[in-house]
Amino acid sequence: MAKTIIKIKDLVKTFEGGRVRALDGVNLEVPEGEFISIMGPSGSGKSTLLNMIGALDRPTEGEVIVDDVDLSKVKNLNEFRARKVGFVFQLHNLIPTLTALENVEIPMFELGLSKRKRVERAKRLLELVGLGERLDYIPTKLSGGERQRVAIARALANNPKIILADEPTGNLDSASSDEILYLLLDLNQRGQTIVLVTHDEEMAEHASVVYRLKDGKIIET
Ligand SMILES: Nc1ncnc2c1ncn2[C@@H]1O[C@H](COP(=O)(O)OP(=O)(O)OP(=O)(O)O)[C@@H](O)[C@H]1O
Ligand SMILES: [Mg+2]
Repeated sequence: MAKTIIKIKDLVKTFEGGRVRALDGVNLEVPEGEFISIMGPSGSGKSTLLNMIGALDRPTEGEVIVDDVDLSKVKNLNEFRARKVGFVFQLHNLIPTLTALENVEIPMFELGLSKRKRVERAKRLLELVGLGERLDYIPTKLSGGERQRVAIARALANNPKIILADEPTGNLDSASSDEILYLLLDLNQRGQTIVLVTHDEEMAEHASVVYRLKDGKIIET
């Protein structure tokens, strides 16, 4: 049995002094190496849930345990994020003035890698996502699909336990979406745990489990 890499217990997240209940008692366990997807209507709490797993925000109630660490007890959240999770966002994810290579280097600063190590590793990751020929391109010179591949390379920068992808293909055509999906599936084959938020049923079906959120709760399907 694979170990549980993400454990979420009775998670509640409210905003606006409690008026908005974005997450309303979520329980979830993800075994290491799993590819799960999260679906649900706009506003159902998908991004909020990813943000809790990635410690971008604190829960109102409940527990989030990632790789045996209770996030409420973590002192240095920046370091936690840099080591344990890689985020892939839908939009605005790359720094426009930096090259593909430099964008991938960014998370490595948190761990104090040397310039040589950073460049070496960023190159290898860009080769892995099929962009070995685009190292010096700034984002505006890349296609949408290529930009998302850079974002995935960046998410992998510190060899994180978990990739959190929030609609990574939301604004891509279907051919580019397929490429990103195959890349994620390939990473999963190599043992990477992946949590994918998507509106695309076909994409979600490639995951081993599909969770559906509604009004901040996981609903039975
Ligand atoms: N920082 C915030 N302040 C106030 N309300 C928020 C905040 N973040 C999210 N919400 C609210 O919490 C609810 C869940 O938002 P969330 O972004 O998690 O939805 P989502 O499922 O990701 O939607 P979408 O598919 O549109 O991205 C929404 O009603 C949203 O308005
Ligand atoms: Mg969202």
